[in-house]
Formats: sequence, C-alpha cells, structure tokens
Amino acid sequence: MTTIFRGNIVHTPRLGELKTIPRGYLVLEDGVIDGLYDHLPHRYDGVPVEDWGDRLIMQSFADMHVHAPQYAMEAIGMDLPLLEWLQTYAFPTEARYADTEFARRTYRRLAQELISWGTTRVAMFSSLHTDATLILMEELEKAGICGYVGKVNMDRNGGENLQETTEESLRETVRWLDSCHFAHIHPIITPRFTPSCTDELMRGLGKLGRERGLYVQSHLSENLSEMEWVRQLHPDCRRYWETYQKFGMWRSHTIMAHCVHSDVREQEAIRDANVLVAHCAASNVNLCSGTAPVREMLDRGLWVALGSDVAGGDHLSMARNIEHAIRASKIRRIESNWHTPFLTVAEGLYLGTTAGHRYFGAGNGFAKGDKLHAIVVDDSALPEGVRELTVRERAERLVYQMRQEFITAVYSDSRRVR
Ligand code: GUN
Ligand code: FE
Repeated sequence: MTTIFRGNIVHTPRLGELKTIPRGYLVLEDGVIDGLYDHLPHRYDGVPVEDWGDRLIMQSFADMHVHAPQYAMEAIGMDLPLLEWLQTYAFPTEARYADTEFARRTYRRLAQELISWGTTRVAMFSSLHTDATLILMEELEKAGICGYVGKVNMDRNGGENLQETTEESLRETVRWLDSCHFAHIHPIITPRFTPSCTDELMRGLGKLGRERGLYVQSHLSENLSEMEWVRQLHPDCRRYWETYQKFGMWRSHTIMAHCVHSDVREQEAIRDANVLVAHCAASNVNLCSGTAPVREMLDRGLWVALGSDVAGGDHLSMARNIEHAIRASKIRRIESNWHTPFLTVAEGLYLGTTAGHRYFGAGNGFAKGDKLHAIVVDDSALPEGVRELTVRERAERLVYQMRQEFITAVYSDSRRVR
C-alpha cells in the first residue's frame, strides 16, 4: 500500500545538516519510507495525497533519558544538589509507586503528554517496583510510544521504602523480564547508578544482560560529590566508567546519562565502546551539576543524544530540551573564554531527533527503509515575519516556540497516534 504525505518537510540527516523540502512529498510503501521528493514522480499519478498544506512535517523526538515516576514531582524542588535532591525528593516520590493505582494514573498521563509533545521514542527509568514498571510499559504501548523501559535496581543507599535486598532485586528483575511481552516497548537493564548497587548486584545484572542480550542504561559523572563517592566505593577504579566496565555493562548501546564531568580519558572510553551519552542540559543546570562538554564530545566523535531527565529536568518537551542544550552550550562558550563553539539549532535538532532514533536502528533523518516517526506542526499562530519565512527559519523558531496545540498529528512506527 502506498501512502503519500505532502507538506513542508524538515529533517536532519547528519549533525549540523538541516534539510528542507518546501511543499514536498514523503512516500511510504507498506508503512516504510520509500522516498522524499520535491516533485511527485509520475508512477504515483492517481494515488491520493494526504495534503498537510502549509504545515511542517518534521521528525518526531527521542527522549533518551527520563524518569517516569518523577513525573509526579515535575518542576518542583529543584533547589538541592544531586545527592541531597535524590534523598529529599526523588526517592520518597519513587517509593509511592508501590501503589499500582497511583502508578496507573500517573503513567497514563505521562504517556499521553509524551505523545502530545511529539516524543515517539524513549529510553526510560521506572522505579524499583516490578508491577508499576509493567503498568508503565503497558501505558506507553497503548499510547503508541516505542522504546526501552527499565525496572530500576537499587540494593543500597536508597532510604526508606526504596531499597531491595540483592537477592530480591535480581529475582524481581527476572520476574519482570519474564513478564515483558510488548510489541514496541522493550526491557533494558537499569542499575540506578553505582552508589545504589552492590558489587554482587552489578555482577548479577551484568550476567543477566549478557545472557538475555539486553542493553544497559545508567548514570555517569553527573556531579562532583557523586564522583567522589564512587571513588570511595571503588578505590580500584581510576574513573567512574570502569565501575560499569568491571561488571560487563560497558558495551555498545549502553546509555550513560549526563557525563557532565567526564574527562578526556572517560570520553574516549565512551567513544571506543559505542556508548551513548544522554545529554540532559536542563537537569544539569537545575541541579547545579554543571554544563556538559557536548561540543567537545561531538568533536571527539562520541555518540550524543538528548534526554529530558524529568524530574531533574523540568519539562518533557524535547523542543524545550533542545533549546536548553543550545543555551547551555553558549554558557559553556562564554565561561570558557570563547574557546568552544556552541551548538547550532540544526545540531540541536539532530541531537533531539536523529541521534536518538539511531539508537533504535533508524537511519539518517527521514531515511528510506525506516518506519515513520514524524510530527505535523501548524505554526500559523506565531507572528508574521516582515517577509515570508523560509521553512528553515520556521523550524528554527519552533525549537524555541513549540506549543502542544501546534502538533496536529503524530506518527510513531508509521501509525498515527495523535
Ligand atoms: N543519579 C541517580 N539517580 C538519579 C536520578 O533519579 N536523577 C538524576 N538526575 N541523577 C541520578
Ligand atoms: Fe537521570
């Protein structure tokens, strides 16, 4: 079956390359992208066209690091540094998800909000609760979202009602993995971060991940006190990343959130292992963690994509998170005596879309052979320019000015989900 969309097509096939096709055509054959055209080839004569008029057809977003249970505390209590913030706000909030009805309500709304902002792929942390995690996966699946969700593992330093024994953590992880039967939402091994997991648990998770061929996600070098703590816990490790490598979790497609304070050696280890850096600029400023050396990491050839890190991050909108990444890179430029260039809008868009989608096996931009992950955006409520704006200018403005009500349609895995 052939489906043809018409509209102002915008996509980012490569870092820094923003391509537009004004009033162009996007053709799907049996739900798979077949081509992009500025003029429709004659072989499609007579095939009906879904014409989106002057709207923009853009890539949907990928949120590569987000904490589902923390949605309940979104945009509250960002007044403490990481370790104190976890103990004071995040852990007590996550403990609430022993209540599966609360989990259902919150996760249903979370899934709907993600779609409403045009996020169709995620790498997400749940809490340590197996049942709530399965509910989360179910709600994401129902909303039409694709991606990975992890039951969080933590057998130390969790505080009241948010800690498992090592044995329980591993047993529950197996029970959870054995219950995951979703079409678009898959499990990912999720040790919270090194201070939350004993060596025995890490060893067990590393083994489980290898046996079942699962990816891994965690946190790395987010905050200086956290890093000092990790050095005390693992005096044999020269750098934080080695605490994951030690247990077989440092491999291709491991996702490491933050990497704000990763030095050159750690960055090289990330690049050489094909680990994905989930850069969470808003969170890094909210929790006063720092500004990550994103430009430097990109120049060094690391794979970087973006995460909202709600609720260290304050907003699910990935357009807003792209904006934060650009702004943080400019602050870093100012603070580094103008030594590092900032992220351009085209680069930001790439990081918030293609770089994340590639984690799921997608190609560059709207690539032939890929399923469609797209949003249709109506920006007609924004101010008229002194001349007609180019499609590129309109895309640029949307990074800063995206609103939920602009997103007219959302396609995820080629299904219309809004
Ligand atoms: N490190 C360990 N857990 C967390 C978390 O929930 N949020 C953030 N930002 N960092 C973490
Ligand atoms: Fe996080």
